[in-house]
Amino acid sequence: MDSQFIALVATLVVSVHGCRKTELPPISHTMFPEGFIFGAATAAYQVEGGWNADGKGPNIWDNITHERPSFVANNNNGDVAADSYHRYKEDVQLLENIGFQMYRFSVSWARILPNGRINNVNKAGIDYYMNLIDELLAKGIQPMVTIYHWDLPQDLENIGGWTNPEIVTIFEDFADLVFRTYGDKVKWWITINEPYMVTKGYGADSFAPAAYLDLHGIVEYQVGRNLLLAHAKAYRLYQKKYSQQKGKLSMAFTGIFSIPKTDSQEDIAAAERTYQLTFGWFSHPVFVGDYPQEMKNRIEQLSRQEGRNTSRLPPFTQDEIDEIRGSADFYGLNHYSTVFVAEGTDQSSSDPKPSAMSDIGVTTSVDPRWPTGASVWLKVVPQGIRLNVKKICEEYCNPDIIITENGYDDDGSKFTDDPERIYYLETYYAELRQTIYTDGCNLKGHISWSLLDIFEWRDGYTKRFGLVHVDYNNSNRTRTMKKSAYWLKNYIEMHKIYYK
Ligand code: NOJ
Repeated sequence: MDSQFIALVATLVVSVHGCRKTELPPISHTMFPEGFIFGAATAAYQVEGGWNADGKGPNIWDNITHERPSFVANNNNGDVAADSYHRYKEDVQLLENIGFQMYRFSVSWARILPNGRINNVNKAGIDYYMNLIDELLAKGIQPMVTIYHWDLPQDLENIGGWTNPEIVTIFEDFADLVFRTYGDKVKWWITINEPYMVTKGYGADSFAPAAYLDLHGIVEYQVGRNLLLAHAKAYRLYQKKYSQQKGKLSMAFTGIFSIPKTDSQEDIAAAERTYQLTFGWFSHPVFVGDYPQEMKNRIEQLSRQEGRNTSRLPPFTQDEIDEIRGSADFYGLNHYSTVFVAEGTDQSSSDPKPSAMSDIGVTTSVDPRWPTGASVWLKVVPQGIRLNVKKICEEYCNPDIIITENGYDDDGSKFTDDPERIYYLETYYAELRQTIYTDGCNLKGHISWSLLDIFEWRDGYTKRFGLVHVDYNNSNRTRTMKKSAYWLKNYIEMHKIYYK
């Protein structure tokens, strides 16, 4: 083997010179293990367009961008987006060209069920995803389907959206249809993308529907509760009705990943609390059972100080705890960046009314030396992803993990010239390999965000996450591979040659 030969030469060289003997890592450690999955992702509202094509109903993003255009930078909206509704074959061709083995995309709820409910199914919507799945499978690319990626049908928002407990069974019905229709072809499922971020659409103006703004501190926890119950219902339904399809299900979890600002006990505790009240809020009920104790204690205590008789965090019943516990076959992690946290809330931004964010009670900051993406929140901190994966192994008993999103955004000014994205991928991959080879974590795959330059929510088309450039000034939405896509193609290719 080459690696043994290199190691032998290195040993001889150091022994001749009498220097300290060092071991070179095996050459295979520059790569991921055999079977590791490389994928790319998008989400329906961010790429499809066709907002009212062929019977699709309106969703909360159609609604907010039409009713309140200034909600998004440059009054952008997803009416056409990258036009993947008409150009999905080009997308699949790009996936094949780069060498991806998996494509994570989401189904648009209102494209399949225009009113959100099961009594009105849109055949054209069903066909669209069937065609996309068939196109992927024909090229040997595994679909990973996200059932909900933030585009709630407007009719469901009109009855309270995720605040209304009825949503739990309405979502279960939708999931049932999707499993029944596509389940013989799809073996990887994400029920809900980033439930933590979904809560920020309520009680805050950050995402659609930007509703119940006065109820922050309360509404986020009601929404979070319904999201967890909806996820668990879908999971149990799959187990009961579709287990012969042998698919694997999870959520795509996220939160605020932080490092203590100093090594003081207070800051170390602040980082742990940040983890438990963001990532732990959703992953603890799924992997351990119930909310993290620290989250329950803290919100209970703050609620009492505010003069309330009950906690703002509504509890689960024992049956609900049992239904949610164990409702994932792997851990789907969306990770981009890392912050420092210090104990105590930043006074200058204090709002007298609590929120899920202020409940954490920390001040965040960044190291000015960290390189940054076009989004201010996206700092390049490769060691953070390793720490996050390691934390998952420790907290949740070493589950299988797939990075369901990870990537870098630029402002598009350099067209396809994106060395910063290559640097990001290269350094994050190096840390991910450490989680496998050094930390012993069961990391099974990495899904890049995003295949294309997409509609980046409130930032519209001003922030570009794509490995592939999309020309938004051209009605053909011309796609051009960036340098990072070529870099990644070579990197994936190297694995295929080595493991052949
Ligand atoms: C996570 C979300 O799932 C995705 O929709 C978004 O584009 C990326 N973060 C980047 O902000």
